[in-house]
Amino acid sequence: MHSYSATRAMVSHEARRLLEECSARARTSPSTSPHTLMDGPHPLAAVPRVASRFDGLGVGFAPYLQPPGPEVSRLTVGEPGFGTPREVIDAAIAGLEAGDTKYSRCAGTLDLCQAVADYLEKHHGIKVGSGDVVITPGAKQALLYSFMITTMPGDEAILLAPSWASYEPMLQLIGAVPVHVQVREDDFHPDCDAIRAAITDKTRMILINSPCNPTGAVYTPAEIAEIVEIAVEHDLWIVSDEIYARLNWMDYPHVSPATIPGGAARTLIVNGWSKSWAMTGMRVGFLAGPPEAMKAAVKSQANSASHIPTFMMEAARVALSCDDAVEHFNAEYLKRREIMRDGLSSIPGLRVGECEGAFYTYVDVRGTGMSDIEFADGALEAGVQLIPASLIAGGEGFVRISYAADENVIHEGLARLRAWLCDE
Ligand SMILES: Cc1ncc(COP(=O)(O)O)c(C=O)c1O
Repeated sequence: MHSYSATRAMVSHEARRLLEECSARARTSPSTSPHTLMDGPHPLAAVPRVASRFDGLGVGFAPYLQPPGPEVSRLTVGEPGFGTPREVIDAAIAGLEAGDTKYSRCAGTLDLCQAVADYLEKHHGIKVGSGDVVITPGAKQALLYSFMITTMPGDEAILLAPSWASYEPMLQLIGAVPVHVQVREDDFHPDCDAIRAAITDKTRMILINSPCNPTGAVYTPAEIAEIVEIAVEHDLWIVSDEIYARLNWMDYPHVSPATIPGGAARTLIVNGWSKSWAMTGMRVGFLAGPPEAMKAAVKSQANSASHIPTFMMEAARVALSCDDAVEHFNAEYLKRREIMRDGLSSIPGLRVGECEGAFYTYVDVRGTGMSDIEFADGALEAGVQLIPASLIAGGEGFVRISYAADENVIHEGLARLRAWLCDE
């Protein structure tokens, strides 16, 4: 078994190595990048190089997501600590036993697409036909299709900064240009005047994510309506990442732009099973939207992933009616949110917001006199892993602390932060 300090040193070393590798990659000119082959390059052989679209491409939070040893309180991951609901596992096993191991309908089985359409109407008041739903390998793949559908190389997409770490590199991968518009500093809600000011003749899409990773902000119905108004005024698409839609702790509802007049025809809804049903490794998500866009989504999927694993279709359908599991998880998250928010608020130098939704606290650490990187590295020394937000645009001075972890891990993490920062 590793000693506590040896594990800490290893994780810290690995995080630094990855960070250095990323910045070296950004600095190194493609022609001089080293090629490593098992037995070394043939002296006369020309060595093919990786397409330049990957040059300097970010890896998001990866440097700080390296699994630490069990001694470290891990408050980094955006993954529910709960097991996947039993009914879902049983349905997946039954699917395998029944021979659901062959090719299937590209957009997902009709039963599953219909179940998603019913689910969207029941829980979020969104009206789409079963033909306007494509089931994807995780929400990430739905995001990739939505970016391909809404932008061409050189087109601009507006992101509300700080935004989830994968959006920017995913847009860059397909040649689109991310334009970061900072949210308001007091509550992390959209600054609609700043969005208007950022629109150019190259802007094609606004990406929103409410409840938000990393800030936890849940946009109000009025803010969503104003974003739709802007999109209509400038004829823009809206990609709405609603993966945390069921994790809303506010007394106003999560509202999709697809439910606002004028919004349905220009909104692509991204969602998935990872968060609310604790199914991260099962890789199921979906994209829903207007018919022409969904035809393009089917083309994207038919020419890449084909479809999700066939035996997962019925399991995903079963999950959509597991309301008891979702409610149980939510009750636990609410408890953990209180513990985390109260615990962090009692530490001098930290400013913690309302934590309106998802399972993240977004903490201003500038009052400690440290940068967010220094804070995260110091926290790791103290036995707590968290994410410095300056790894993403607009996150300088903040850290993201997840309360998806078990309650005892949260208590231990808070005690360690207090001991470190309050000299207890
Ligand atoms: C905002 C956001 N969108 C999408 C995803 C990806 O979800 P999936 O596991 O379904 O690909 C995540 C995962 O962390 C996320 O935080």
